[in-house]
Amino acid sequence: MRHILLVALLALSSSVACVKAVPPTDTGDPLISTPTSPTRPTTPTTPTTPTTPTTPTALAYNQDLKAVFQSDCVTCHGPSRADGHYRMTTYAQVMTAVRAGNASSTLVAVTAQNGNMYRYWSGSTATRQAKAAQVRSWVVTFNAQENR
Ligand code: HEC
Repeated sequence: MRHILLVALLALSSSVACVKAVPPTDTGDPLISTPTSPTRPTTPTTPTTPTTPTTPTALAYNQDLKAVFQSDCVTCHGPSRADGHYRMTTYAQVMTAVRAGNASSTLVAVTAQNGNMYRYWSGSTATRQAKAAQVRSWVVTFNAQENR
């Protein structure tokens, strides 16, 4: 009698244990998955992009202006021609029309939108305006420095 009872109890307890073991995992899943979602809205707090405007790269003759002058100006202001008695082949030659830091420099005046050399800037309207602004910035803000 005792054996039969024991076996019956064991069978019962094991079956109950099996049934009991299943539900906690089912109900546990939605409870675990929901708390993870609120953590996601906190992740877009990565505004690392504003670091780009903090790079006002200094303009310099050799790195920024030389190539532009070579393509747009040297045909008339170079070794073969010196229109207006002005050459732009070397930094020293370019500087004869520049007073560092001075917006009234001849080079700045003639290459600005109302200047008579503005027409020689190549490229789109935006590009030509950018080139004029670059020359002005190089002379006025960066004192017409040769290198950076
Ligand atoms: C098609 C030929 C030609 C091109 C290209 C040209 N220039 Fe000139 N430049 C001249 C002539 C001609 C003069 C003199 C008459 C005048 O000022 O209009 C002159 C005068 C100048 C002067 C005045 C020089 C001085 O000391 O009085 C500067 C500065 C100048 N140019 C800069 C430039 C720059 C910068 C470029 C390139 C964007 C350029 N030029 C392109 C023909 C040209």
